Amino acid sequence: MPGYETWSDAERKEVNDVLETGILMRYGFDGPRKGIWKAKELEEAICQTFGCKHAQLVSSGTAALTTAMSALGIGYGDEVILPSFTFVASFEAVLSVGAVPVFADVDDCLTLNPDAVRNAITSKTKCVMPVHMCGSMADMDALQSICREHKLLLLEDACQSIGGSYKGKKLGTIGDAGTFSFDFVKTITCAEGGVVMTNREDVYIHSDGYTDHGHDHKGVDRGADLHPFIGYNFRISELHAAVGLAQIKKLDDFLSIQKKNHTALKNMLASVPEISFRRIPDASGDSCTFLSWFLPTEEITRAVVAEMKAQNILAGNFYWYDNNWHYIRKWDHLKNSVTLNALHPELKAAVMHHASKDFSASDAVMGRCVSTAIGLLWTEEQLKTKGEQMVNVIRKVLSQQKTLA
Ligand SMILES: Cc1ncc(COP(=O)(O)O)c(C=O)c1O
Repeated sequence: MPGYETWSDAERKEVNDVLETGILMRYGFDGPRKGIWKAKELEEAICQTFGCKHAQLVSSGTAALTTAMSALGIGYGDEVILPSFTFVASFEAVLSVGAVPVFADVDDCLTLNPDAVRNAITSKTKCVMPVHMCGSMADMDALQSICREHKLLLLEDACQSIGGSYKGKKLGTIGDAGTFSFDFVKTITCAEGGVVMTNREDVYIHSDGYTDHGHDHKGVDRGADLHPFIGYNFRISELHAAVGLAQIKKLDDFLSIQKKNHTALKNMLASVPEISFRRIPDASGDSCTFLSWFLPTEEITRAVVAEMKAQNILAGNFYWYDNNWHYIRKWDHLKNSVTLNALHPELKAAVMHHASKDFSASDAVMGRCVSTAIGLLWTEEQLKTKGEQMVNVIRKVLSQQKTLA
């Protein structure tokens, strides 16, 4: 996910605007900042670009998820349903508000299987959190209808799918709230940063205060602000917002390059009949940051990954099944509930119970999946070479397997 690939004078110019005033904080200092409000400007650009009513910038995607959950009133006694394939930040945020992460299996969309969500619902369920992994989306019609039927909140973790859409709506703007990450390896980056997007005014007002120690931002100065509730500091700096402001202007270009490269690589891999591709509920809305593909068995997939490694072409290809960050199979710290501070015993027991369930349905998908990151800077020649090398490795392994059988 490639925002960092195109660092340029545009980012330098926005950052220099801030450096010239010396006002690095997003709030206050109205006079000395001489009209430079990068965070505000980026929030407006986010609302316009993605079509949401409100945007609250924060210091990271993790902070955005934590903020969104607090703003939605999720906390003690609540359960949040999320997929077994995500980034650790998704469950960290649930834990940070004192709620229980309840994992549900993924299907060939690489995110929540709606039937698994239905089976995970209990009287304590408060929220369903689809994670639009690797640039593409969950089956939002099915999940929205489950949420309506059971009166549940819908929070989209769209941190990895900036610019993707589902049936005409941008990912992250469909549920009660949605989040992006602008960390260094996201489609657009602030170096570090994130955003909560929502069409609900109450959620926005809560997010605004929560991320700045509960300030209501209505006083004549910060000292005169009231604090209607307790908040924390998840503020973004003006320097980070400035980088994001330059990057958001490049988003359409990034997306069109990604789509072109993704289509070309997919066409090459499609020449191997044993390869199938991730199911995309709305193919036109794929942001195309990754091309995710499946082989027939885990054994073949492992052999292909090993051969790619042997031929030194594994970089940029992700076998999530063995990845320590992204798939539940390797989250021993969660399964054993290893925390630095004591958790309430009830929460600790629930966390361990839910993280240690049977995820064989997810294993059957993830054990056969490889995701290839799509580069922005690939030349046509590099893309062709990459595709040919991948196809050759896959064909070689498949023919070895046939000989063995
Ligand atoms: C799905 C998902 N959610 C949340 C995050 C957290 O974002 P950040 O790194 O900005 O805290 C990430 C980051 O990789 C992510 O991939």
